[in-house]
Amino acid sequence: MTKIIWMTDPHFQNDGTIRGLNPRTRLKAAIDHMNAHHADADFMVLSGDLVGDDIAGDYRMLAEYLAQSRIPVYPMVGNNDDRQGFRAQLSLPPTAMADFIQYRIDTPEAVFLCLDTHMVGSHAGQFCQARLDWLRGNLTDKPTYVFMHHPPLALHLPKQDEIKLADDAAFLDLICNEGQVKYLFIGHVHRPTCGTVRGIPFATLGAISFQAPAPQPAWDWDSFTPAAEAPHYGVLYVEHGDVTLQYTQFCPYETGIES
Ligand SMILES: [Fe+2]
Repeated sequence: MTKIIWMTDPHFQNDGTIRGLNPRTRLKAAIDHMNAHHADADFMVLSGDLVGDDIAGDYRMLAEYLAQSRIPVYPMVGNNDDRQGFRAQLSLPPTAMADFIQYRIDTPEAVFLCLDTHMVGSHAGQFCQARLDWLRGNLTDKPTYVFMHHPPLALHLPKQDEIKLADDAAFLDLICNEGQVKYLFIGHVHRPTCGTVRGIPFATLGAISFQAPAPQPAWDWDSFTPAAEAPHYGVLYVEHGDVTLQYTQFCPYETGIES
């Protein structure tokens, strides 16, 4: 069995708040909860949008917070990340690509691929030929589970569907043709959803930081107000090809709210 803690979108800042929330308080609460209740997990995946605007300072302090984890941490990039700043402070496994923050984690029963869907200068996602080629080369005969920041389909969520993975067709063509990919675990949308894409199941996750509201009442970025919902992380079990995902609240909504 492989047990994984899945967290996403901490939007960590070394100072100040984001949308009225102290992201340091939230990340500490998540790590403390994980250490207290899930120190038996094999590893934790943090699926992107790690920092705010102070790239060097945010990544430096984020690394200190993540060092408190009792289990190995695999960080990924999202639209708000910076590959150079990320690499300066966070370590990657030896399977990582040279130019992209994309890598493979092997366990006895499965392969876990952490993909880089970052597009420089955009909040939408990208999966270029180099990343596709790497993915093709890392699809083996073992069951494969994919973590990625941007969803490769529209999720019927306001505004966020405009910043999904832009070149989703080539990605989906590849994973559907090969057949090993059993599940997609997706960040970015700050809200739990699940479904299938071309028959492959997927799940998204609420953020460690602020939560996106439900699609109705309709909202846009000008009217955006985070939902007053508590954050959660995912507890994933993969055993004999079966997958379960427990959405796990780790603190009350009020934790870290400053305005
Ligand atoms: Fe985010």
